Amino acid sequence: MQQADFEKARKAEASYHDELYSENDILEPGTWMAKPVPVVMEMLERLLRFKSRLEVLDLGCGAGRNAIPVALRLRHTGSTVTGLDLLDEAVEKLRENAQKYKVEDMIRVEKGDAEHTQLSDGKYDYIIACGCLEHVSSEQALINVLERMKAGTAPGGIHCITMNTGIEEIEADSGRKLKPLIELNLPTDRALTLFRQAYEDWNVLAQSSVLQSIPEEKYDKPTQFRACSVLFAVQKTS
Ligand SMILES: C[S@@+](CC[C@H](N)C(=O)[O-])C[C@H]1O[C@@H](n2cnc3c(N)ncnc32)[C@H](O)[C@@H]1O
Repeated sequence: MQQADFEKARKAEASYHDELYSENDILEPGTWMAKPVPVVMEMLERLLRFKSRLEVLDLGCGAGRNAIPVALRLRHTGSTVTGLDLLDEAVEKLRENAQKYKVEDMIRVEKGDAEHTQLSDGKYDYIIACGCLEHVSSEQALINVLERMKAGTAPGGIHCITMNTGIEEIEADSGRKLKPLIELNLPTDRALTLFRQAYEDWNVLAQSSVLQSIPEEKYDKPTQFRACSVLFAVQKTS
C-alpha cells in the first residue's frame, strides 16, 4: 500500500473508532462491543485449567470489550491485563471502564502501535489480538508482529487472534463498491497460510473463517463492511 493510502486508512479508522468509543459503551446492547468475543473467554478458561495467575496482553484493545471481562474473570488471582491501543479515545475509555468495573488495580493501559511494540521475552500467558492485525502496514509487518508475540509468550501460553480479510466496503444507498480503506487487506487464504507458517510448531486450538457484514459510519455516507473474519487460536508447546 502507498504511504498516502496508508495514512488515509489510519485516519478513517481513527475517526470511526473515536466516534464509536465516545458514543457507545462496551458490554451494552447496540454495537459489536456488546459482548466479548466468545472464543477469547473460552481460551481464557482453557488457560485457567492449569494456571491461575496470568499475564494477559490485549493488542488493539479498544475500549476494553475483551480486556474488561477477562480482568473480571481474573479478579483476586494477582493477574494483570495490559491493554494497548493506538488511539487516545480507546485508552481513555479503557481507563474509565477499568474504574467503572472496579478492576483498575489489574489493568495496565498503554498507548502505542502494536507494529512497533517490544514485548519482554516469555512474559505473557495470553495474548489477544481481535481486529488489530489488519491495521499493520504490510504483510512483512504482520509476520514481524507475530514473531514478537511468539517470543513474548510463556511456555503453554495462548494467542487468540481474529482478523478481517478479503474486506469489501459497499455504499449502503447505491450498492457501489468502494476501494476499501484498510491498512492490510489480505486475501483469506493468504492470511491463513501466514498464520499456519508462523505457528507451525504451536498447537492449533481453534481455526475458522466466517463471512460477516456490518453497517459502518466511516465515510460521508453509510457503508456496509463485508469481510471474512479469520479466527486463529494457538498454544505454545513447552
Ligand atoms: C475493530 S477495533 C477492536 C477493538 C477490540 N479489540 C475489540 O475487539 O473490541 C480495532 C482497535 O485496534 C486499534 N488499532 C488499530 N491498529 C493498531 C495498531 N497498529 N496498534 C495498536 N492498536 C491498533 C484501533 O485503534 C481500534 O481500537
